[in-house]
Amino acid sequence: MQILPPEPAAIRAAARALREGQLVVLPTETVYGLGADARNDLAIAAIYAAKGRPRFNPLILHVTDLAAAEAIVVLPPLALRLAEAFWPGPLTLVAPLRPNAGVSSLALAGLTSAAIRVPAHPLMRAVLAEFGGPIAAPSANRSGRLSPTTVEACRELADVALAIDGGPCLHGLESTIVSLTGPFILLLRAGALPREQIEAITGPLGSPEGESEGELKITAPGMLASHYAPDTALRLAAHDVRAGEAALDFHGQLAGFATRLRLDLSPAGDLTEAAANLFAFLRTLDSMGARCIAVAPIPDSGPGQGLGEAINDRLRRAAAPR
Ligand code: TXA
Ligand code: MG
Repeated sequence: MQILPPEPAAIRAAARALREGQLVVLPTETVYGLGADARNDLAIAAIYAAKGRPRFNPLILHVTDLAAAEAIVVLPPLALRLAEAFWPGPLTLVAPLRPNAGVSSLALAGLTSAAIRVPAHPLMRAVLAEFGGPIAAPSANRSGRLSPTTVEACRELADVALAIDGGPCLHGLESTIVSLTGPFILLLRAGALPREQIEAITGPLGSPEGESEGELKITAPGMLASHYAPDTALRLAAHDVRAGEAALDFHGQLAGFATRLRLDLSPAGDLTEAAANLFAFLRTLDSMGARCIAVAPIPDSGPGQGLGEAINDRLRRAAAPR
């Protein structure tokens, strides 16, 4: 995989590779994405192969603006209000697919809805503009592994034409996914946009559990219990660090315990900073050969910041038995 510095030549090269049906690793404000032309079945098949991803798990489509999104999906009034408030940014909307949307049905896993977002990262936006079409891009990791927040973390993927180095991702957590396909608006995946900010516009969000919409059951985003999995076991809500354990701390709660390695997601207790550090710190601790990683308790929310829900969601999946 060739890693290019963030320069105009890299943007042109990425757009060219996409037109040729190749895979490219692209920075976004959430995590790095593995991009392909969303209209090209062969290119989409290559994404699933490179990630080792189950074919029934559909991909997020990235477009430049609201008009490009509306060419693919039908956005109900509430979706339009969310788009106005949060696009470009870390919000993905699932909405009914338009007939003749022109998107590979493999990218949609055959569903009649599509997940779509307008990313904010200037490099991703430049590639979208230069390419001129929708880019399907899941996170650029092997399926079930930690999402990449630096370009180096994407090296585990084979068959990628090139990568653009955009530095560390701003949010470090995937986008928040909201579904507007049925009578209720549902939170499918907690993510970089806190629930409270969405609910300020929509009112309370439903959750897919208990909904009878069969479609949501199969597609529940990253909802396989074990997802985002490091090799090392995790012990959550730890109040101590035991022999042989590494420590993933928050706000200095585990600072007093002896360990070969302790990384603090945010010594100041800031959940935004913690989210940005989460996957990179988990990767580092995972590579240390510890028996287990003790993870300090992380509040579900803090003053003015609602990212705790998404951080705890990723930690629970990372800790799930597999
Ligand atoms: O921040 C992000 O969203 C990153 C960056 C690269 O944009 N992308 C990302 O994609 O996280 P991925 O493929 O790792 O996660 C997409 C999730 C999947 O879990 C999938 O199940 C869900 O979106 N999804 C896609 N289409 C859907 C649909 N029509 N209905 C319900 N869920 C859908
Ligand atoms: Mg992913």
